[in-house]
Amino acid sequence: MSKDIDWSNLGFGYIQTDKRFVANFKNGAWDGGALVEDANITMSECACVLQYAQTCFEGLKAYTTEDGKVVCFRPDLNAKRMADTCKRLQMPVFPEDKFVEAVEQVVKANIEFVPPYGSGATLYIRPFMFGINPVIGVKPADEYQFRIFCTPVGPYFKGGAKPITIRVCDYDRAAPHGTGHIKAGLNYAMSLYPIVDAHEQGFDENMYLDAATRTYVEETGGANFIFITKDGKLVTPKSDSILPSITRRSLMVVAEKYLGMTVEHRPVAFEEVKDFAECGLCGTAAVISPVGKINDHGKEICFPSGMDEMGPVLKKLYDTLTGIQMGRIEAPEGWIDTIG
Ligand code: PLP
Ligand code: COI
Repeated sequence: MSKDIDWSNLGFGYIQTDKRFVANFKNGAWDGGALVEDANITMSECACVLQYAQTCFEGLKAYTTEDGKVVCFRPDLNAKRMADTCKRLQMPVFPEDKFVEAVEQVVKANIEFVPPYGSGATLYIRPFMFGINPVIGVKPADEYQFRIFCTPVGPYFKGGAKPITIRVCDYDRAAPHGTGHIKAGLNYAMSLYPIVDAHEQGFDENMYLDAATRTYVEETGGANFIFITKDGKLVTPKSDSILPSITRRSLMVVAEKYLGMTVEHRPVAFEEVKDFAECGLCGTAAVISPVGKINDHGKEICFPSGMDEMGPVLKKLYDTLTGIQMGRIEAPEGWIDTIG
C-alpha cells in the first residue's frame, strides 16, 4: 500500500520516511549497521563534521516500473563513487557490496513511500557519511557514521521539463587538483552564496567555468552539462574538476548504443556554446533539465530549441533513459537492481 501522498505535486523536498540505515565506524572497523526509526543524530559539539566539514554524500533513485516492480538505477556506481570520495577525504570506505545491500534494505523498509508508476515522482535515496568524534586540531576523525535515508521527490526544477535560464557565474566551483571530482559536502557549501545570488538575479542555476582560465565549461552546482550540436552529436565537458555524473555516463551509452549518435566527451570551450542546438543539465535529481537561455554578463545565448519545451534530441535521450529506468525499454546488463 502506498502512503497517502499527493505524488504528482511533490517538489524536490524532504519528507521524513519510516526507516533509515545507520552504521558506525569505531576502532578501525565498521559495525554491521541496522535500520532505525530515529531520524535525528546526537553528536559532540566538536565533531569533525561540525568543525572541519568532513562529510560526503551520494544520491540515487528508486522507481516503480511499468509492471509494478521497484528498482534502483546503477547503485553500484554510487557505491564506487562514494569509495573514491572517502579516500580523498581521509574517510573510511564503506564496503561497496554492503552499500548496495543497505540501499536495498532502506528502499524495502520504506516501500510505501516509493511513488507509483506514472506519477512523475521517484524515491530519492541519500547515502552520507561524516566524522563524528571530537576533533580540534585539524586532522581526520577516528569515528564515522554512515547513514542512508530516502524521501519521495518530484522535479528538481519547478516546472519540470520547462527550459530554465542560467547564468555564467563569477564564482568558482572547484579548483584544479581540488575536490570537484568527488561528492564532498564542502563543494555544495561553497555553492550556496552563488545560488542564492543567482536566484535573486532571476536565474535558475549557475554555469561554472574552469577556475584556472575561465574559458571552459565545467558544470552547475548539482548537474553535468550535455549539449547537442546542429548536426545531432552529443557533446559533454571533460575536466578533472567535474563530478563524474552517473546520469551523464549512462546518457553517453544511451546516445551511442540506443540512438546511434556520435558522442564527444572532451573539453568544451565556452566560446563554442553559442553554436550548439540544444543544452541540458543532467543528474539524478535533474534527470535531464533543458536549458533555454544562458546569460553571460548581460549577453544572452538563446538556444534554437527555445523556452517552451525540451529540444527534440534531448527529448529522445530523456525518453530513452527514463524508459530504461521505468522498465519500458530493455536496460543494458547490470543497470537495473530489482528490489521488490
Ligand atoms: N554534478 C554535481 C555537482 C552533482 O551534485 C550531481 C549530482 O549527483 C551531478 C553532477 C550528477 O551526478 P549523478 O548523475 O551521478 O547524479
Ligand atoms: C543528485 O542529483 O543526486 C544530487 O546530489 C544533486 C543535488 C545537488 C540535489
